Amino acid sequence: MSASLATVSYIGATILFILSLGGLSNQETSLRGNLYGMIGMTLAVLATVFGPQVTAAGLPWIIAAMLVGGAIGLYAARTVQMTQMPELVALMHSMVGLAAMLVGFATYVDPEATKGVVGAAKSIHEMEIYIGILIGAVTFSGSIVAFGKLSGRIGGNPLLLPGRHWLNLVGLLVVIYFGRAFLQEGSGMTPLIVMTVIALLFGIHMVMAIGGADMPVVVSMLNSYSGWAAAATGFMLSNDLLIVTGALVGSSGAILSYIMCKAMARSFISVIAGGFGTASAAPKPAGDAAQPAGEVVPVNATETAELLREAKSVVIVPGYGMAVAQAQHTVYEITKFLREKGVNVRFGIHPVAGRMPGHMNVLLAEAKVPYDIVFEMDELNDDFPKTDVVMVIGANDIVNPGAQDDPTSPIAGMPVLEVWKAKTSIVMKRSMASGYAGVDNPLFYKENNRMLFGDAKKMLDEVLTVLRA
Ligand code: TAP
Repeated sequence: MSASLATVSYIGATILFILSLGGLSNQETSLRGNLYGMIGMTLAVLATVFGPQVTAAGLPWIIAAMLVGGAIGLYAARTVQMTQMPELVALMHSMVGLAAMLVGFATYVDPEATKGVVGAAKSIHEMEIYIGILIGAVTFSGSIVAFGKLSGRIGGNPLLLPGRHWLNLVGLLVVIYFGRAFLQEGSGMTPLIVMTVIALLFGIHMVMAIGGADMPVVVSMLNSYSGWAAAATGFMLSNDLLIVTGALVGSSGAILSYIMCKAMARSFISVIAGGFGTASAAPKPAGDAAQPAGEVVPVNATETAELLREAKSVVIVPGYGMAVAQAQHTVYEITKFLREKGVNVRFGIHPVAGRMPGHMNVLLAEAKVPYDIVFEMDELNDDFPKTDVVMVIGANDIVNPGAQDDPTSPIAGMPVLEVWKAKTSIVMKRSMASGYAGVDNPLFYKENNRMLFGDAKKMLDEVLTVLRA
């Protein structure tokens, strides 16, 4: 492939990536967005592999590596559970970081890469290598720790070393000092290795200091870092497409982190500074009950069906438990049944419901729930006083009134769906166990709240049977 054809393909791929991001911002266009992304990536890979920078001798190596990597990716995509997605994403970010590090070292030792590069151009090239390895190493080790925390292999409690901010500052100063040494003629590999070790330790320290409750923000933040690591790799390899794509991932990850911070009422700086959220990141097993704080009113499937039958307006609030139970298809069947009977059924989605951004939207789309009855928290919160029944399906933290009433709560200030303002709320879960943030939920003890205990799928199947009877 000629250099100009490769450039045209790169421009085409860049446009497709931008269209893809635009498409992904809305449920109705997300399928198209994904398609643009897939075509763009295929174009980018083909233009790179068959582009002018790859020699005939290198081609078999690249194809073999692609086959191995593709097979692993296919296997992971087919076997990973929806609830394990954040772990998989964290692991993939670590790969981007590792790639940036390896490319950095390879570029430094490759005599071809610096052939004829002198003076200012040489300094810039070395700076790209130094910064590329730095971002790559932080992303790599930080993502590995995030994977450990999300999968429950590492505890969710923040590790707060004495004088941790000073430690970080000293690390930064040492990195700057060695950066200067690296740019000086003949200083060799030592500064690069010292910086890499410090960056790896910094990545571990940064994520270890962040509590379980802040992990969603950390994953999107590492997503952003992985984008910047890819952009740095693009600079090292003089690959424009990698620079643009990396910048797109880096900035969209930063915007997502900002949106999630807002949804959890956290400031970005305080998340990075760490120490918040003492809850374990691993889901609590059923029966890990919080201290009871009053009486709850349990109901059965028949009583639930009665309440639904009498309602004119119903709001369904899905959470992580709906994903665990895979109850979305039954939820859709119930929705269809009620809508056919003239009931106004709508869905209320919290920005951090479930375990990844858009988790609930993906499940509802899979079950073919129409998009026009799916609303965001802000669009629905004022409507709860006019709602007859709210069905909370496997959600907990996102409907916790303590976030508004209890300033000592770990989730104080987090915006929540105000389901307790409806005439009746029904919470479906298996036990009195707390949710991700590990806090008790006063909603359960409210006078107008009912508890339908059991696996969400099983209970909803029972409700549907009674409704249809
Ligand atoms: P959670 O607060 O985690 O509550 C989920 C509830 O589902 C649990 O209390 C659990 O109670 C119940 N459950 C589990 N399996 C069930 C099943 N098979 N059937 C019925 N119920 C079941 O979830 P949420 O309300 O969706 O809130 C999300 C939380 O996760 C927030 O704290 C958020 O910050 C955090 N988080 C979000 C993300 C993103 S990006 N969305 C990422 C990581 C963490 P039982 O055990 O009693 O059944």
